[in-house]
Amino acid sequence: MGEGEKAVENQGDAAPKTPDGAGERLLEAIRSRTSWRSYTGRPLNRDEAAALRQVMADMETPFGSDLRIELLQKDESGSAALTNRATYGVVRGAPAFLAGAIRPEKKSLTDLGFALETLVLEATALGLGTCWLGGSFSRDVFSRELRLGEDERVPCVVAVGEHTPARALHDRAMRFFAGSPKRKPASELFFDTAPGRPLTETMAGETAFQVLECVRLAPSAANAQEWRIVRTCGGRRFELFVRRSTWMKSAQRVVEADFALIDAGIAMCHFQTAARALGLAGSWTAKEAPLAAAADGLEFIAVWR
Ligand SMILES: Cc1cc2nc3c(=O)[nH]c(=O)nc-3n(C[C@H](O)[C@H](O)[C@H](O)COP(=O)(O)O)c2cc1C
Repeated sequence: MGEGEKAVENQGDAAPKTPDGAGERLLEAIRSRTSWRSYTGRPLNRDEAAALRQVMADMETPFGSDLRIELLQKDESGSAALTNRATYGVVRGAPAFLAGAIRPEKKSLTDLGFALETLVLEATALGLGTCWLGGSFSRDVFSRELRLGEDERVPCVVAVGEHTPARALHDRAMRFFAGSPKRKPASELFFDTAPGRPLTETMAGETAFQVLECVRLAPSAANAQEWRIVRTCGGRRFELFVRRSTWMKSAQRVVEADFALIDAGIAMCHFQTAARALGLAGSWTAKEAPLAAAADGLEFIAVWR
């Protein structure tokens, strides 16, 4: 056993796992999920809607922000507004959307990413398709649907429903242009002690490396994958940072949504879900300063310890 593996063992491989195969189900969802932009139009059935609402009711986000997440269903809302036009035709035939209203602050944007991705994983486990939308949706339509307060914003929505058996042509084209099936190699995302020093599987140990692999598979705006994780304290801490790419900065000016923070919340959801399923102890906190040496352009989000 290598040095790193010992460190992982020390910091709690024996942590309690998510019970009753629930963890396995969510790990499978992390591994199988992809974005879908064409749906059959079938409304969510009662069990599907109830399962999503239960996850909303049980939701605990890392920073405990005040989030107002709603499941908007075409047939329930009675609104004629949730048509293909509400997504400028990017998503077609979706019977429902998950949408969150927040007061946009660093922690609430991160929590929103965490909460919506928790719902995405549940939807995937139920066999439904999903697609995050940060740019391709009408903020006017969804603001009205959510009856947005003056200080509230709707940074993102998620389409959810039974996807078509095969991908539509426009979906295949969008996946091609966003490079959706690809992910950066672990050596560009995960580091030991300081950014730039790749964390190998031998150093990390099998459990921690599997958890990190689940972060690597996370969806991100334009598939930018601007999260970085630095392991410190010989494996007892995992420090999450983000970078704001040039693309993200310009998107932020146009749509007023900080995708780097939403993506960070999604990455935290994948890390926590996998850690609980695989028995890696810990929880997220933003109250402790990072130990990893600062690197240009990296913004600290939280530490898992
Ligand atoms: C915060 C966020 C915003 C996104 N916004 C859009 C969008 O506006 N339109 C779109 O078609 N896809 C959008 N996506 C989907 C990404 O393009 C997709 O997740 C990424 O390319 C990876 O592909 P995959 O989800 O199939 O793994 C968004 C994803 C995230 C996480």
